Amino acid sequence: MLSTKKAARFINTMRKFVALTLVLLIGLASSCVQQGGGGDKVRIGVFMSLTGSTANFGISSVNGIKMATDEANAAGGILGKQIELVVQDDRSDAQEAATIVTRFVTQDKVHAILGEVASSRSIAAAPIAQNAKIPMLSPSSTNPEVTRKGDYIFRSCFTDPIQGAAIGEFAGKNLNAKRAGLLIDRKNDYSVGLGQFIREAFQKSGGQIVAEQSYQEGDTDFNGQLTSIKSQNPDVIFVPGYYGEVGLVAQQAKKLGINAPLLGGDGWDSQQLWQIGGQALVGSYFSNHYSVDDPDPAVSKFVNDYKTRYGSVPDALAATAYDAARIMFDAIKRANSTDGPAIRDALAKTANFPGVTGIVTINSERNAVKPIVMIQIGDGGKYNVAARVTPEGATATGAPGASPSPGASASPGASASPATGASPAAGASPAAGASPAASASPARGASPTAPAASPRSANSTP
Ligand code: PHE
Repeated sequence: MLSTKKAARFINTMRKFVALTLVLLIGLASSCVQQGGGGDKVRIGVFMSLTGSTANFGISSVNGIKMATDEANAAGGILGKQIELVVQDDRSDAQEAATIVTRFVTQDKVHAILGEVASSRSIAAAPIAQNAKIPMLSPSSTNPEVTRKGDYIFRSCFTDPIQGAAIGEFAGKNLNAKRAGLLIDRKNDYSVGLGQFIREAFQKSGGQIVAEQSYQEGDTDFNGQLTSIKSQNPDVIFVPGYYGEVGLVAQQAKKLGINAPLLGGDGWDSQQLWQIGGQALVGSYFSNHYSVDDPDPAVSKFVNDYKTRYGSVPDALAATAYDAARIMFDAIKRANSTDGPAIRDALAKTANFPGVTGIVTINSERNAVKPIVMIQIGDGGKYNVAARVTPEGATATGAPGASPSPGASASPGASASPATGASPAAGASPAAGASPAASASPARGASPTAPAASPRSANSTP
């Protein structure tokens, strides 16, 4: 009896011991994975805004990155390893972006980083990646400061000096605007910088900023600023901000009886823009990274695959992020290593990479020089291509209108072609999906001469 009790106690102790050992072993194994000690995966940290004021930027971007990753993994991965994404939500907050990237380099031990969209958040996180010598590639942050943070920081999109030149010149030359209002988000690096580049280009085209006002992210009432701008009788109003505020600005401007078109940059692009601003946006213009109606077969394949997978038309964020992920994978392959310095060197050598947003060559400043599309928002939220701008040093894509067309260049070194007839079906309706019947309409009141980025503002190629 006694010995049976003893045996039972012994078995119990052993059970506990085995259970404890198992817990310890599992813990050890998972912490190995956590620290990237496994060595059997290529680990990519992705920091994006999946919630907060610009959640749509991050959601679209992660969609694009996941699609590129699944395609690459299905084709065998890179360097014989599968790619593992470590996706983190920075809640649209710059401080949180920095915290996440700190975790990426100290704890998750990622081999490379993709992010962010918003320039302010890329700027906040870049020094951390730089110090750790882990290459960081932003798909869509356009403020010049981002890649100035160090030689491990890259972007696969154009920059705001080039985008600002396209917008300012489009207003001055195509729309014949002389007087403009400017409304910026004063705490947003992207908005402040782009506003400045637009101003310079518009003035160079003979225009004048007659009223300047500002707001802060999260504001919902723009009546004071718009009333003050309206009193100066502007021909156009530049609003280089993000979609959330831009949609409200458009609505309130219409209610105040302002008929001057609004013009902005890539920060407008989101499916949410139309949902917020609606018909009040019709006739406004913004510059962007790509157009879903590009007849290039690679673009239509991407658009169709994306639609099948996610049930919506890919916006510029999804497309630029898809490209950025593929550019990073390509660099890791060429580096033939997952070491930070080796990947960095390979990224710097990226040349003529065929992206869906254009052909990407990384220049000596670690920026891409790429064509820009000017989009006019049409009825029902259709995106009509109003002009295509190919800055100096950029490789034109195969799309009609993207190649230099004689007589279309407004300033030397850059070429742009008017959109009339350039695009068979500019059918991206952010609200309702692509409409094959939509046609590209020439810019209202546009002269046949399309804008051109000035050579001064175009980046040099390596
Ligand atoms: N270019 C913007 C920035 O740097 C971000 C953005 C890119 C927003 C593309 C929308 C589309 O802040």
